[in-house]
Amino acid sequence: MDKEVLIEVNKVKKTFKSLVAVNDVSFKVNAGEYLALLGPNGAGKTTLIEMIEGIQKQDSGDILIQGKSWKGNAEKLHRVMGISLQETHFIDRNSVEETLNLFSSFYGLPQSRSQEILEVVGLEAKRKTYVNHLSGGQRQKLALGIALLNNPRVLLLDEPTTGLDPNARREIWNLLEKLKQTSKTAMILTTHYMEEAEYLCDRIIIMNKGSFLAEGTLPQLIKSYGDGEIIHFTVNKPFKESLKSLPSVRNVFWEDKGTKGKLVVTDITDTLPHLLALIAQEKLKLLELESRKVTLEDLFISLTGKALNE
Ligand SMILES: Nc1ncnc2c1ncn2[C@@H]1O[C@H](COP(=O)(O)OP(=O)(O)OP(=O)(O)O)[C@@H](O)[C@H]1O
Ligand SMILES: [Mg+2]
Repeated sequence: MDKEVLIEVNKVKKTFKSLVAVNDVSFKVNAGEYLALLGPNGAGKTTLIEMIEGIQKQDSGDILIQGKSWKGNAEKLHRVMGISLQETHFIDRNSVEETLNLFSSFYGLPQSRSQEILEVVGLEAKRKTYVNHLSGGQRQKLALGIALLNNPRVLLLDEPTTGLDPNARREIWNLLEKLKQTSKTAMILTTHYMEEAEYLCDRIIIMNKGSFLAEGTLPQLIKSYGDGEIIHFTVNKPFKESLKSLPSVRNVFWEDKGTKGKLVVTDITDTLPHLLALIAQEKLKLLELESRKVTLEDLFISLTGKALNE
């Protein structure tokens, strides 16, 4: 059976004066699929997602939701779409419940739906609380609740967990995971957190300066960097030898005048004994040694020259 494409973005471009915020990007999201847009500040994530939401208009290219463009279909598209913006402004003197009721009435939904959503996002105890008295995490949950009110087929979340503590972040992940199991919603979320992209999403797009640098499932992306492991080490004086010829080494990076090294290796057990032997042979002192699997962050750094949260 063919997959149902819910979001289609085709050669979309957006510029602000001379700044190209989104540069000719294309992708699709199927029903039931979760996609992460991962990128640093200013990458163009919000601009792209707001064009999909119909809030901003692209300079060129097409955006289709369930095969329809925004032009002439706004009412229909609003009904299938749930959105949460990077920053949500609620009406301060409304309670959580009143806020949900207000949005329910926009969609022509019964107030019983507000009660369901209060439970879904775990804000029952806060129903009477003014929205300006909510914590950051509770506000994010309310924003997500509003996005979910109309049982959207297309869910667009702009940094749903930025600034949250690990517990609150985990609660939002659980909620979105549950939604995935019980619905065929297509979701795009933007994030700076690679763990969020890894944990929640089927596919990840790495974006920087308006362009897509890489796209795929986590294993595909890791493989594109070169599946393997990283050895980090620090020695007291620079090595005389470049370590390129050690067994299974694919790449060597140096920092701090050659005292801090990073080896990208295929198999750490092949490399490590030789590295240690060489350290002894050159009479160096090993100050630090650490090994780990290749992560998305390694790929990100290799593509952009900087870390995600720099
Ligand atoms: N209305 C605007 N006018 C001029 N420039 C803009 C406007 N909106 C965005 N930009 C610029 O476009 C680029 C992309 O911004 P955007 O908000 O899409 O990035 P982002 O990836 O969402 O970043 P962040 O992670 O900080 O939210 C930035 O350089 C920004 O300054
Ligand atoms: Mg943004």
